[in-house]
Amino acid sequence: MKKVTIAIDGPAAAGKSTVAKKVSQALGYTYIDTGAMYRAFTYYVMKKGLDPKDEAASISLVPEVDIELHSDGRVICCGEDVTKVIREPQVSANVSYIASYKDIRLALVELQRKMAQRRSVVMDGRDIGTYVLPNADVKIFQIADVPTRAVRRYEENISKGIKCTLAEVEEDVRRRDYIDSHRDFAPLKPAADSVLLDTSFLSIEEAVEAVLDIIKRKIGEA
Ligand code: CDP
Repeated sequence: MKKVTIAIDGPAAAGKSTVAKKVSQALGYTYIDTGAMYRAFTYYVMKKGLDPKDEAASISLVPEVDIELHSDGRVICCGEDVTKVIREPQVSANVSYIASYKDIRLALVELQRKMAQRRSVVMDGRDIGTYVLPNADVKIFQIADVPTRAVRRYEENISKGIKCTLAEVEEDVRRRDYIDSHRDFAPLKPAADSVLLDTSFLSIEEAVEAVLDIIKRKIGEA
């Protein structure tokens, strides 16, 4: 069977990972959450007592950081299960600084490309279609308006027992979008050959269907 790669990019809390996970299950592909890797790196920097805004200090940890994404969704960083803690607001508030450092991106992108080398994948992030997998078979840029994204993330956090207010979540989403789309190296932007999918008025099921339709159409064309 031909190896297929699907790239799903888009701004913060657009529902990419929820949709990407379900699409990967429907197709029997491996789901790769690249955001979890930047979050794990950020957590590790903070755990070491370093300031994520300090580029040199953060980069100095590249040789010792080891991140594993397991098929059951667990994220392991240097032997510690960080699956839950990387979703905490403190990590969200700092991850976009870490993600703007080129040396950290190069190390994580190398791992991401390796993971996609030998199997069919659905990979979600910010730069998958533009930089990580420029030859992906299907590229989707998933968006939703800011208030919708803030409510979705707020409800997700509350259901996971993460304390926050809607206003804090909205501010975090806006700030991350700004930093992610203004960084110099591999910023958030739609790939020229991506399909735009606005999920503002779609349920999860409808968004999954829409993505599966785009994939069917694209793969059918190939
Ligand atoms: O799920 P959410 O949209 O909140 O974000 P995420 O996918 O967990 O990514 C967290 C952060 O990692 C983003 O705000 C980006 O700063 C960074 N990121 C990135 O720069 N490149 C990627 N391929 C994935 C995430």
